[in-house]
Amino acid sequence: MAHIVIIGSGIAGLTTALRLAGGHDVTVVTKDSLGESNTAMAQGGIAGVLAAEDSVESHIDDTLIAGAGLNDEAAVRVLCTEGPDRILELAAAGVTFDTDASGRWARGMEGAHSVGRIFHSGGDATGRAITAALVKATRAEAAAGTIAVREHSMLVDIATGAGGYVDVDVDVDVDASTNEGRATGVSLLHDGALEMVAADAVVLATGGAGQLFAHTTNPPAATGDGLAAAIRAGADVADLEFFQFHPTALAGTGFLISEAVRGAGAVLLDAHGHRFMPDIDPRAELAPRDVVAPAIHRTMAAQNGAFCHLDARAIPEVSARFPSITRGLAAHGLDLATDLIPVTPAAHYFMGGIATDLDGRTSVDRLFAVGEVACTGVHGANRLASNSLLEGAVFGVRAAEAIMTLEPMPDFRGELGDASCASVSIARDDLRDLAWTHLGVERNEAGLRALLDHLGEDGPSLTDREGGHLGEGGSSVTDREGGPSAAGREGLETANLTLIARHIAAHALARQESRGAHIRTDFPVSNSLPTQQQPASVVPVPTT
Ligand code: SIN
Repeated sequence: MAHIVIIGSGIAGLTTALRLAGGHDVTVVTKDSLGESNTAMAQGGIAGVLAAEDSVESHIDDTLIAGAGLNDEAAVRVLCTEGPDRILELAAAGVTFDTDASGRWARGMEGAHSVGRIFHSGGDATGRAITAALVKATRAEAAAGTIAVREHSMLVDIATGAGGYVDVDVDVDVDASTNEGRATGVSLLHDGALEMVAADAVVLATGGAGQLFAHTTNPPAATGDGLAAAIRAGADVADLEFFQFHPTALAGTGFLISEAVRGAGAVLLDAHGHRFMPDIDPRAELAPRDVVAPAIHRTMAAQNGAFCHLDARAIPEVSARFPSITRGLAAHGLDLATDLIPVTPAAHYFMGGIATDLDGRTSVDRLFAVGEVACTGVHGANRLASNSLLEGAVFGVRAAEAIMTLEPMPDFRGELGDASCASVSIARDDLRDLAWTHLGVERNEAGLRALLDHLGEDGPSLTDREGGHLGEGGSSVTDREGGPSAAGREGLETANLTLIARHIAAHALARQESRGAHIRTDFPVSNSLPTQQQPASVVPVPTT
């Protein structure tokens, strides 16, 4: 059996681990407790086609339209075709999906879906239900000795043999006898000490990097550790200019108010009580996130920063339908049933990430990536609502099946590369403010250059998914005096976020257009979309 180390315990990591259990020796490493992840916070649900009135082609079309013409169509087809089986498997694993009056699974509506196809649990606690089922199954495997779990252990770096890397789309061709050009293990920070763990393959399932931004719906652990380590290991990355901003977080808190609330009928009001979304897009509040988030952002700017409000008061039994959101708002003295809720956009989901093929293979041999940290291209420039849990389940299984065929390295010597960490010279809060200002909902060249000047610009040239040149800048790695264990978790996380900020800025500078979630005020037009599909940023915000 080979030893597979999986970093991360959200839906992607645990799905991969559970598929591999018994076939290989599996170790799941997680920064906090098992299951503490973005997955656990997911409210709206999981999208999929399980109703006769719906079709896989329609789900594919909606995903492509939301993605603003940049999706990898093969990845979208895989997601939407294999998704239904993965949802049924989650149900078999113990997730209780909510039912409607007829006893069938209820199908919620969210932005940019042409029909209701969002399956949810506990009203608005779908991520919690999925996490509970997967953690229970993982604990059972751990009790049976098929999965080892290492909690409170942070990924520092990926160890690689010296040498080259492989193209994702071509056959792997490395010298197995020397361990060159492949992942050989990981270094972890646990209880303040650095540990090396050897592996025959490493799977990164570390989720997103929302903590880069001053306003985010992501949990504190979402600091891009896997992405940063992969960059340092030389893996190809892609689409880093595309970071999704969720339109409706409770103002000043990052507390998510699910798109499902708008799907159930809530509307957005400006400071004068005017419902502004129908003036901007015929889909109104159910336009894709890359339309609604900038519309709120720009409406706020036009009213001197005053908040917009979500009005859910007309939704029947709204508190019963959204119990977790109701509880969360109550902690802030607000009631969905009777109050207008002040909302702002907040960093939510990273479309870009480590470039992979459809089975999670990265450009580094035996290094895999699944879920939000990966970039299959499935989301294009803007993810369709509730496709993220689905992505973790679908691509977690595919990666596991690819890994299942791996043999242990015949002469594995456990040679590990040097653990190193990026230098950090900025306070976390300053970084988050800078990122919000210059990498946030709207960007421009002056701001991106100011950010890079502040953070330091160097490193290798960047390429996009097709290998096209995207410009210079942004991935320096320097040994920090005292090493990773001296930097501590907080220092390492800030270093990782700094590295990622540089890469996002370099990608954002290189893309001289507005596309999906990447909005350049100095290049407001999309280069290749027809007029009727131009970004909402081209449309002036009406004043009332
Ligand atoms: C939401 O419930 O609005 C978030 C779900 C998602 O990000 O797709």
